Amino acid sequence: MEIYGEKVKLRAMEPEDMEMYRRLVNDPEVEHGVPGWGFPVSTIDQMKWFEATRADPTKKSFTIIELATGMPVGVYTVHNLDWHNRSCLTGYKLIPEGRGRGLAFDADTAFAKYGYDELGMHRITGAVIVTNAKSRNVIHKGPTSFEGLRREAVYKNGQWYDVIETGTLENEWREWAIESNWNGYGDAYRAKQAEAQAAKTESVKFRDLLTNR
Ligand SMILES: CC(C)(COP(=O)(O)OP(=O)(O)OC[C@H]1O[C@@H](n2cnc3c(N)ncnc32)[C@H](O)[C@@H]1OP(=O)(O)O)[C@@H](O)C(=O)NCCC(=O)NCCS
Repeated sequence: MEIYGEKVKLRAMEPEDMEMYRRLVNDPEVEHGVPGWGFPVSTIDQMKWFEATRADPTKKSFTIIELATGMPVGVYTVHNLDWHNRSCLTGYKLIPEGRGRGLAFDADTAFAKYGYDELGMHRITGAVIVTNAKSRNVIHKGPTSFEGLRREAVYKNGQWYDVIETGTLENEWREWAIESNWNGYGDAYRAKQAEAQAAKTESVKFRDLLTNR
């Protein structure tokens, strides 16, 4: 099942996406904006990463596709998938051509809906370098809370940077999605409630029928 937002969908990564992923991780601006770090990545390294990620049960990467153009615009990664505590850590990177149109927020919200309503996640977390104002603003648009600060946790560009820890709980996300009616979520939720009530009434009728036979 592909994961739909209002403006993007998240689909399984394919070998032909790897050049775009490699371009992203090799971009110094991206490297300076994200908490992680890496050595320059070759085409062979990238294909090894593809195979290793496919085999890793705690990690998933999806390609972000802009619905209006059908263009692959970035990568959405889910780390630390923990099926016992029902939590994960998420992150996203867009190529320059995909930026400035609210696609990161939409990708993040599309994954949240999938995470809470399909995977049964209870808590979804993130991490942002304190100086990444754009990314902080993406987070500000939804119900996510700032939960903590890891002081001088990453070293880049000759400096130490603090990292903000973020988190959202399933009930907080659902309340926000119903209230804001993101991608018709509130309307669909109310329709589901009405359907569940009708199913309950049918069930009671059926039970009565069986008892009075
Ligand atoms: C950071 C990133 C994900 C933002 O994604 P995006 O979809 O292009 O985000 P937008 O351009 O819609 O901007 C998000 C918000 O930040 C605001 N913003 C844009 N440029 C800004 C800037 N220079 N400073 C502060 N805020 C800015 C926007 O106005 C928008 O808020 P609004 O919708 O309320 O107007 C994207 O630029 C990217 O992939 N960068 C490289 C990798 C990276 O930093 N990943 C995040 C790691 S945590």
